[in-house]
Amino acid sequence: LLVVTLLLSSLSMFAAIKIGALLPLTGGVSAFGDLVKKGIELAHEEKGTVLGQKIEVVYMDTRSEKTEAANGIARLIDKEGVIAVIGEVISGNSIAAGEIAEKKKVPMVSPSSTNPLVTQGKKFVSRVCFIDPLQGTALAEFAVKTLKIKKATVFTDVEQDYSVGLSNYFIERFKKYGGQVLQVQYKSGDQEFSAQLSQALAFGSEAIVVTGYYNEIALVAQQAKSLGFKGYILAGDGADAPELIKIGGQAVEGIYFSAHYHPDAPVTQVSKKFAEAFVKKYGVKPSTLSALGYDAYMLIVEAIERAKTTKPELIATAIRSIKNFQGATGIISIDPNTGNPTKDVVILTIKNQQSAFAAKISASDLK
Ligand code: PHE
Repeated sequence: LLVVTLLLSSLSMFAAIKIGALLPLTGGVSAFGDLVKKGIELAHEEKGTVLGQKIEVVYMDTRSEKTEAANGIARLIDKEGVIAVIGEVISGNSIAAGEIAEKKKVPMVSPSSTNPLVTQGKKFVSRVCFIDPLQGTALAEFAVKTLKIKKATVFTDVEQDYSVGLSNYFIERFKKYGGQVLQVQYKSGDQEFSAQLSQALAFGSEAIVVTGYYNEIALVAQQAKSLGFKGYILAGDGADAPELIKIGGQAVEGIYFSAHYHPDAPVTQVSKKFAEAFVKKYGVKPSTLSALGYDAYMLIVEAIERAKTTKPELIATAIRSIKNFQGATGIISIDPNTGNPTKDVVILTIKNQQSAFAAKISASDLK
């Protein structure tokens, strides 16, 4: 009996606390999933226990799709018994998964989904990134004030909540400054953009603004250049993966995009330590999404520590009360009502086939 009791108590001591990671590991935006996973793995290596128990990260692939995101989070919660979820990466998938998190009362923290609807009206869904009204405004400010652009064509991926929202926020601020806009549409997975590009050229665009994800941004840039377009190419955070350069090559040289972070512009002590540890582990500089994945994991663990319990509802409350958390991407204070932090925007460019820091736009300057 003693042996059995000892065995059981040691088992429960070693029973792992499970955190889910709901990521697009295959499909259209698989590069994003891979980058976030790298950040989570590093964070898990650095901090693998909480409340005296081991943490196990359970990865779940969404295939970059909404339905799979919803199914995946249900599986994580019901079958795997995770007490919190990191994810999803892109807004449309986080909106779908967030509905389930809310119903099942398990906290979900998106590293990177920037559409307002991801957390709107929810108690269990939060994020460690800024939101698109801020990002779209920042990009428009940069376009008008720094690049002096007056005429732009905005390419909107109508299949992505992120792209539809970001386009609107950009256009709103751009027009406020008297800018002229032509908006054209495409869909995730499109390969051919000549119809939209000929409209953009006929319009006399000084800039082409693609608010979708890296694959299509790279293709639009290539096809624009081969049609003789000499103006600026702009994008949002959806451009921020090394695949943009792998696919786009010279055509993406000089593009500007809004983003969350760059390793060459560390904002906290944690930024520096994170970047060094990342280079040591992976042999390359960290991408934004790796830093955001790292922050989402660390913030959840911090919340578990503060809640002093593995009860999902109490962890959700702890997440919503986090203030001045030192992340790799900045200082994160989660607004208890909205689940959103307020963070600065950076503008990055592609220089010599590498992403480079171009400018910082403070959230407080964008009001
Ligand atoms: N903000 C994008 C979305 O909401 C996701 C993203 C963030 C992609 C950061 C790359 C880098 O869909």
